[in-house]
Amino acid sequence: MKPTETESSPAAAPVRAPEAVFEKIAVTIAEHPAEACRQLAAGIRQLIERRQAEGRQAVLGLATGSTPVPLYRELVRLHREEGLSFANVVTFNLDEYYGLERHHPESYHRFMCDQLFDHIDIDPDHIHVPDGTVPPDEILQYCQDYERLIDEAGGIDLQILGIGRTGHIGFNEPGSTRESLTRRITLDRVTRQDAATDFLGVENVPRFAITMGVGTILRARKIVLMAWGENKAGVVAEAVEGPVTEAVSASFLQGHGDATFLVDRCAASHLTRVRAPWLVGPVEWSAGTAFRAVVWLAQKCAKPVLKLVDEEYNEHGMSDLVTERGGGYPINIEVFNRLQQTITGWPGGKPDADDSNRPERADPYPKRVLVFSPEPQDALVAMGGVLERLIEQGHDVRFVAMTSGSLRVRDEDALRFCRVLLELSELSGEESWGGQEREAEKLVRLLDGKAPFSEDPQEVRRIKALLLRGEVRDACAVCGLARQRVLFLDLPFYERGRYRRFLSGPDDVQCCVEVLREFQPHQIYTTGATADPSSLSAVTYGVLESAFDQVRPESWSQDCRVWHYRCRENPYQPHEISMAMPLSPDQLERKARLLLGFQTISKVELAVCDENRDLAAAYDRLGLAEYEAIEALQRRR
Ligand code: F6R
Repeated sequence: MKPTETESSPAAAPVRAPEAVFEKIAVTIAEHPAEACRQLAAGIRQLIERRQAEGRQAVLGLATGSTPVPLYRELVRLHREEGLSFANVVTFNLDEYYGLERHHPESYHRFMCDQLFDHIDIDPDHIHVPDGTVPPDEILQYCQDYERLIDEAGGIDLQILGIGRTGHIGFNEPGSTRESLTRRITLDRVTRQDAATDFLGVENVPRFAITMGVGTILRARKIVLMAWGENKAGVVAEAVEGPVTEAVSASFLQGHGDATFLVDRCAASHLTRVRAPWLVGPVEWSAGTAFRAVVWLAQKCAKPVLKLVDEEYNEHGMSDLVTERGGGYPINIEVFNRLQQTITGWPGGKPDADDSNRPERADPYPKRVLVFSPEPQDALVAMGGVLERLIEQGHDVRFVAMTSGSLRVRDEDALRFCRVLLELSELSGEESWGGQEREAEKLVRLLDGKAPFSEDPQEVRRIKALLLRGEVRDACAVCGLARQRVLFLDLPFYERGRYRRFLSGPDDVQCCVEVLREFQPHQIYTTGATADPSSLSAVTYGVLESAFDQVRPESWSQDCRVWHYRCRENPYQPHEISMAMPLSPDQLERKARLLLGFQTISKVELAVCDENRDLAAAYDRLGLAEYEAIEALQRRR
């Protein structure tokens, strides 16, 4: 008799992926968010078409924010180009700011219409977005009704989520319970800070929101949480690998039978399998991996690199490395030297020096350098010290403000400027002031008549851009850069768009191609490669990358090095750094003063000086020299 499986050959236990030891939710890591969204959209299409064939509705739970933007673009494309119909789709959005009318430019209702609903054939009666204007005494009933509507629709088939830096899903801020249902909540300080650019200042971000609860979300049959970019890496790891806790509401997804995290490489970068793969299984010990591992080990053991001992290697999954290299100490020395070699006070290379172990080559000297800044202040925040040093050391530097930055400038600041103009013209009483006076009066009228957060008329955008231009020229002058060496590209996509919804085009790329061709740089400084694709820095990075692709066949481009700085993402950690430039106490103070010259600078941006100090302290703890502060760059090949 043939033995049944249960008798003598028990079915093998399902093979658990090694990373599952750490990861308590399924995680799919995609090469790029666009690719991930294509796959997810294909899954949504299958669901919709299956339901169409059955004569039933498909119920989708939807999120707003930057993260789902590429997904919605792909769904719109499927509708337009491949005829996918949404006629049988019912949607429930997670949340809405409390106090915002549905037509308010920053309302989630408006966002959904702009990004998805206005471009597909969904029945408007099938759309549900919490109403941010329900009177306080009706909220309880309204929220109960929202829950009931979801149930009456048959429950959510697929819930799409993003994740906030507080670990929230929907707007379930820390403290939300597993059982929580749709309700009004108070937004966390970090969440409001993250929305500050959209609302032109944190003080304008609503304090409350209506959100589906964690319990509501967990009732969905299938859940996909998406996360892109370096900024989400920490919270993704906490939610996936950490304990289930009310402090990180996304961690409750660990208890759902069909929840997946769909992340790009950057958002996955703090998962143990990526951050410390030697803890998960055997690894190939390339020089790069060994370097990363030893820096990690020193930080883990809170010891300088040169003091690590073999036992510590063994206890942390690195015994094979020690065996391969015949002991830990030679590795300590190798890693220490490599770290030491990242430190330089010569970001443009030291002329006439042996450069075999320096981050940047000595020749040619001086170098032609282009510093690209997504909004005018970004590069100054991230690398104000490096910029100053490049100029001081005689390089031919151009500061390129890629966008006008006008979206950052508050109406009050523009108004104040116009009123000063009016005062001046009144004082001077000269006829020649007539033109300016009329212009200023017109601007005051336009600004006064503007609905809150609505789009600025062209004239207002221009004056805001000019205010920022003045500030950035002044800041560059503090670094020693002449005013005429600051270029303003005013990329068109920015002038057409809003935060989270930018779409670049060939005209943007062409602007960058022209600058590259004209200056034929030896060094480029840029940012945004590891950011959320809908963020401004990622969009400008994409534009520059496409421009560089166009000039790649030109011989000068072979001799051009690209250096990357981080502005709104997590700061670089020592193992990621290719150039560490120390700042003296004076230099750091100058940098802080320079940043304060921007009316639009935020607290978060000002905190960069503390980050520069923290990085210096981290180098010190690893056993390197103790500097006041360090700015970090990574070389991109
Ligand atoms: C939005 C929502 C939030 C966002 C989260 C991430 O409807 O519910 O949980 O998903 O704040 O926002 P982004 O995608 O802008 O980083």
